[in-house]
Amino acid sequence: MLPHFSFAEQAPELAPVDVLVLGHFEDDALPEATAAIDRATEGLIGRARARGDARTRLGYTALLRYPSGVPAERILLVGLGKRAEFDALAFRSALDSAHRALRDLPARRWGNTLLQIEIPHRDESWRTRQAVLSAAQAAYRYSATKRPKNDEGQGPEEVLLFGVERPVQALNEAAAEARAVALARELGNLPPNICTPAYLAERARALAEGETLASVEILDRAAMEQLGMGALLAVAKGSANEPRLIVLSWKGGPSEQAPIALVGKGITFDTGGINLKPSNGIEEMKFDMCGAAAVIAVFQAVRELRLPINLIAIAAAVENMPDGAAYRPSDVITAMDGTTIEVLNTDAEGRLILCDAMLYAKRFKPQAMVDVATLTGACVVALGKHASGLMSRDEALAAELLAASEESLDRAWRLPLWKDYDKQLESAFADIANIGGKWAGAITAGCFLARFAEGVPWAHLDIAGTAWEEGRKGLATGRPVSLLLSWLRRRAAS
Ligand code: BES
Ligand code: MN
Ligand code: ZN
Repeated sequence: MLPHFSFAEQAPELAPVDVLVLGHFEDDALPEATAAIDRATEGLIGRARARGDARTRLGYTALLRYPSGVPAERILLVGLGKRAEFDALAFRSALDSAHRALRDLPARRWGNTLLQIEIPHRDESWRTRQAVLSAAQAAYRYSATKRPKNDEGQGPEEVLLFGVERPVQALNEAAAEARAVALARELGNLPPNICTPAYLAERARALAEGETLASVEILDRAAMEQLGMGALLAVAKGSANEPRLIVLSWKGGPSEQAPIALVGKGITFDTGGINLKPSNGIEEMKFDMCGAAAVIAVFQAVRELRLPINLIAIAAAVENMPDGAAYRPSDVITAMDGTTIEVLNTDAEGRLILCDAMLYAKRFKPQAMVDVATLTGACVVALGKHASGLMSRDEALAAELLAASEESLDRAWRLPLWKDYDKQLESAFADIANIGGKWAGAITAGCFLARFAEGVPWAHLDIAGTAWEEGRKGLATGRPVSLLLSWLRRRAAS
């Protein structure tokens, strides 16, 4: 489904591609590849610029068809804005604009020359990674449950990268990352009548197959009852689709090394339960398993890249439904460690499945634990759809994750988890309540989870705003797979 990526063997002016992406600045000389094409085409680029067909505003794209003098069938000229302002974000945004403009063309062989443009603090490997991820993001199509429309292009078959000195490792890492992002997107996009807890478990099982360093354990309702996972099971009570706790393990590191644990929220559909959600937008709650999809996808990339780390990826897969058997507001339930929880709202279900999954993860004595969850609407109110919410009481871990988010451009922003907020979770009838009232909903959800992470360096990523694009045609984004893989690659290297 994703195109094949490789480094070009030829100069851009000699490459037989269906479309060649070139950049130009508002206030700087033409980049080398752009200048070479301009010469070979006897000034085509200069004419397009002079006549206003190709603007230099960042992300403006102009398609020049069938140029003479070069084997390329088309040229896509992308505005890069002002040279001095061309930073990492501008670079990614130019790539994204270019790839979006290409995705519906009949062009199967894409060539990209933007990688040669230097930007501060980002090397060739980084530029290669971004070029691959951006092209893959644009090339992704959802097709599992529909027929393609006639006017949709088929997307690229091959992407050639020009202007870098073959950073092969970066290319391989990026291709694996792109496949992981695509998997997370696909699982997120699948409808909840197909993507049930059992379905997620089978997809995860397949990822552990045929590999001695990988294994999978899938806990069903009975196994979870044995373990006393009363919080997770309470959420599952109203659903005919039985819950699964999916535990993937990768042993690529030294056997004595403590694993890293990732825990994903996998609510395959969140109706809200007895505290039923309003109809408007409820269909988007099929994406409430994007945390689980992300950790499963990260596992796939770690396995593919054979990273020298030990990893436990846990996905708590549960459906939250209203029913005669469903849990109710005011129920008091008991988590695996004996903590009693007063359910004040059945729609605050994510933290209930995560607390048992995190307690289970602790059995592996992880060196660090990160949970990933579409946890609160409040996080979207706070940060919008640009940044994931990062919460942690561990300064070092928070700093590592923020650095990974800058590196990958899969951005996160930290919110505080001060003890002051803990008071909002007090309950008269149990050790803790599952909601913290009107204010700081993203943070009080984080505080709830913090209680169950006690003793382990832990961080929480609230991806409620970043996991999918809103609206009728909004697709899952695959976030925060890139952030997590950047973090794990760094951990593997240290
Ligand atoms: N899955 C939702 C969070 C959510 C809502 C994500 C909208 C993305 C968009 C979560 O289970 C939920 O319902 N949270 C409640 C918590 C509240 C009852 C304390 C919320 O955010 O409203
Ligand atoms: Mn909910
Ligand atoms: Zn939810």
